[in-house]
Amino acid sequence: MPSVYFQTFGCQMNIADSDAVHQLLAERGFVLCDSHVDSDLIVVNTCSVREAAEKRAMNKIAEYARRKKNRRHQKLWVIGCMAERLGDGLKERIAGIDTVIGAKQMECIDDIIETQYPRDRSSPAIFRKTAVTDFVPIMRGCDNYCAYCVVPFVRGREQSVPYESIESTVRKKIDSGIKEITFLGQNVNSYNHDGVDFPKLLKRMTRVDGLERIRFTTSHPKDCTNDLIDVMSSSKKIAAHIHLPVQAGSDRILSLMNRKYTSAHYRNLIDTIRAGVPHIDITTDVLVGFPTETDAEFRETLALVRGIRFTAAFMFAYSPREGTAAAAMEEEMAKEEKLARLSELIATQTEITREIYEKSVGSEMDVLITDRQEKRDMAWMGQDAGCKRVLISCENVEAGMILKVRAVRSSGMTLVAERLLNLN
Ligand code: SAH
Ligand code: SF4
Ligand code: F3S
Repeated sequence: MPSVYFQTFGCQMNIADSDAVHQLLAERGFVLCDSHVDSDLIVVNTCSVREAAEKRAMNKIAEYARRKKNRRHQKLWVIGCMAERLGDGLKERIAGIDTVIGAKQMECIDDIIETQYPRDRSSPAIFRKTAVTDFVPIMRGCDNYCAYCVVPFVRGREQSVPYESIESTVRKKIDSGIKEITFLGQNVNSYNHDGVDFPKLLKRMTRVDGLERIRFTTSHPKDCTNDLIDVMSSSKKIAAHIHLPVQAGSDRILSLMNRKYTSAHYRNLIDTIRAGVPHIDITTDVLVGFPTETDAEFRETLALVRGIRFTAAFMFAYSPREGTAAAAMEEEMAKEEKLARLSELIATQTEITREIYEKSVGSEMDVLITDRQEKRDMAWMGQDAGCKRVLISCENVEAGMILKVRAVRSSGMTLVAERLLNLN
């Protein structure tokens, strides 16, 4: 049987897309290979969000292309966001790439694969995720055009998936053992299809039997409505976690970024969310070193981060992306200055994260067991109803169980817990 090896860069949307391609190849008889050396096909799924992400992908592709010369039958596909941005030009840069499939072509990916590997009706569809948690994209693309961001260019206009199709995907996943779904979109709370908006979708999902936990990402602060907060507070099935990228604390920078909210609006929103869903984990993305950001403006970001106390944050130094509005702005800041701001921010947030985890020690939490950590004394890994990672050593456990546990110790960004009860 032919085999395929996947190398996936970028966000959860790319993971979901790689799974979709994997599924379509499995339907054509492909088996998964855990080494690129022996596989008949290598699929590299790429990200364009920062220059470093593209460089990493480029290096990997070049490495595969180089080795491929000794294995002439092997095919190399480059898919995803960088494939969209650079198109067939990639083949000129790196000899040895066979096929380039851009992110916008994911809609017709079945037809594209069919031209190269026609479906053989007798082949069994064997791809089955053994995990208990999975992603379901509910909308694609982005219309927001934040000044720094390449995503609207490589992913195209916002498009919501019809509700019926989402529900049937979710039901199929539940039948194959999935307990938790994370709904994906660049901006999930602008989901809208035929009058079903995001809060409605969530509400309906809470009634699907067998779906024990619901997560979603990413939410844009400008579209985070009271309806959404109400739905979150109305059901225990919806995780007490929201990822709400703030990007910056200065109103001048937020406006230049085209984020469409002020820091005061963001702070009020956090207060409303916390009032509606007590103990919620709030996480964020922060971008430092946007063109013209002054040291004082960066201090506003630090102050906001200290004031809000996010459970965790993804933090980045601005990287200019060709074609975006910000790329046309003059950049005066030295790279060292950007990186110095980034490390100060990371140090501040890391301390806050540590304190929040430390404070959870002693409390009870409901943990969905996801997998086993073979390296760490065969302990089980899971996640609480928020976003905290929990490690637990006990007998008679399997992935998919929800346990009531008590956190006994914190090791930085993981809690160690003991079991109190089985909940499902
Ligand atoms: N759709 C999501 C996130 C998209 S990209 C949202 O709207 O929040 C994930 C994160 O990468 C962004 O939140 C931003 O913090 C960061 N990012 C995007 N473009 C960037 C750039 N040009 N340089 C550095 N970081 C960037
Ligand atoms: Fe990029 Fe902004 Fe869209 Fe997020 S909302 S994907 S940061 S343009
Ligand atoms: Fe995701 Fe990177 Fe594309 S963050 S949408 S894979 S540019």
